[in-house]
Amino acid sequence: MAGSGTTVLEGFILGRRALGFDIDPLALLVSQVKTAPLDKTEVNQVGNNILKQATIALDERESELRELLENRWDTKTREFVDYWFALETQVGLLALLMEIDKIADESIRAFFQLVFSSIIITKSGGVSLAFDLAHTRPHRAKIVFSRSGEVLLGEELTDRSSPRLKFLTKRLRFAPYEFKKRFQQNLRSLLDSGFTSPSPRILRGNAENLPLADDSVDLIVTSPPYASNAIDYMRAHKFSLVWLGYCIDQLAQKRKEYIGGEATTGFDFERLPDYSAGTVAAISELDEKKGRVLHRYYSEMTRTLREMFRVLRPGKAAILVVGSSVLRGRDTYTQNCLAEIGQAIGFQVPKIGERRLDRNRRMLPAGFERNSESQIQQRMHVEYIIGFHKPES
Ligand SMILES: C[S@@+](CC[C@H](N)C(=O)[O-])C[C@H]1O[C@@H](n2cnc3c(N)ncnc32)[C@H](O)[C@@H]1O
Repeated sequence: MAGSGTTVLEGFILGRRALGFDIDPLALLVSQVKTAPLDKTEVNQVGNNILKQATIALDERESELRELLENRWDTKTREFVDYWFALETQVGLLALLMEIDKIADESIRAFFQLVFSSIIITKSGGVSLAFDLAHTRPHRAKIVFSRSGEVLLGEELTDRSSPRLKFLTKRLRFAPYEFKKRFQQNLRSLLDSGFTSPSPRILRGNAENLPLADDSVDLIVTSPPYASNAIDYMRAHKFSLVWLGYCIDQLAQKRKEYIGGEATTGFDFERLPDYSAGTVAAISELDEKKGRVLHRYYSEMTRTLREMFRVLRPGKAAILVVGSSVLRGRDTYTQNCLAEIGQAIGFQVPKIGERRLDRNRRMLPAGFERNSESQIQQRMHVEYIIGFHKPES
């Protein structure tokens, strides 16, 4: 659950042998790039070459690019791409991607794949026809103007004016131009080379079943997803992952693996200790489905804590940063339930700390109407830091 790799980066900077696992392809890409020192001059040269070659391709071989787009995806993925990306944007993105795919150096290629993804998944929806991809259910623009000012979508709405329509009106951006801005920005935050600490390792791994030996880890620091799909990572990530080689069905399958998901049919539930079982029962009384979703979450976290206990050396600690959720108006007391589950597994819990969150610094859904009753608004103000200690055997 390395996410964007913040903890792995801090471990690397502190000279530790840092290891990060996640199942999300974009999280793995972000972490990989964030923790890979690169030569800025070389990256700058490669970036300028991508832009030069992509611009030539757009000027001289546009029909060829359009043909390549024809056969790039299966029907379902194509429908998704055609719904969310205007054709002129698709051609621009493909021109960039074809240059990125030619890069031999894996770390430099990953750097530019992330730049590519960052011009799609942004708060404003970037080059796609979506708005606010980063944090809410994506909204598609109602009125779309091409870069030359032609109406591509919503002609029938252009004579109407309302704040909402204005909000959902988009003028297409030129992908190579957005790419240039973003690559220069990312270049500035690139990790300098010259670190002597052991290179961090970012690996695909399911927290419920880690590819690590027993008693092999000195410290675990992580923050699991919230219960009940509060942040549905794949909902936004698929907008760039369909360009990076994944099809819609594959991503839908992958989405089922995420801790905190809502599918419970055929799910392997764990027996929970009393307090946690009571918390689930209380919510089930209000909403049976939500009760099962919470039972799923605590079952996944039971298996995750069991894995953490297995891989941690005796006498060592694990730090979990968690947020609680509100389901049907009831708190899930996640910090207390996870502490109880951890103790039932064999951990000691010396302390549960609290961290107040500054609402304005937390990237949360914008959008037109803010529903202060919504689950995510209700629980954005505090996070809990649970300290787990594995006793000396
Ligand atoms: C709250 S985020 C972690 C954020 C991270 N602390 C950071 O600084 O960016 C939770 C992460 O858990 C990952 N995740 C969800 N289910 C997982 C599983 N079964 N195994 C491994 N990672 C998982 C998600 O992809 C997401 O990146």
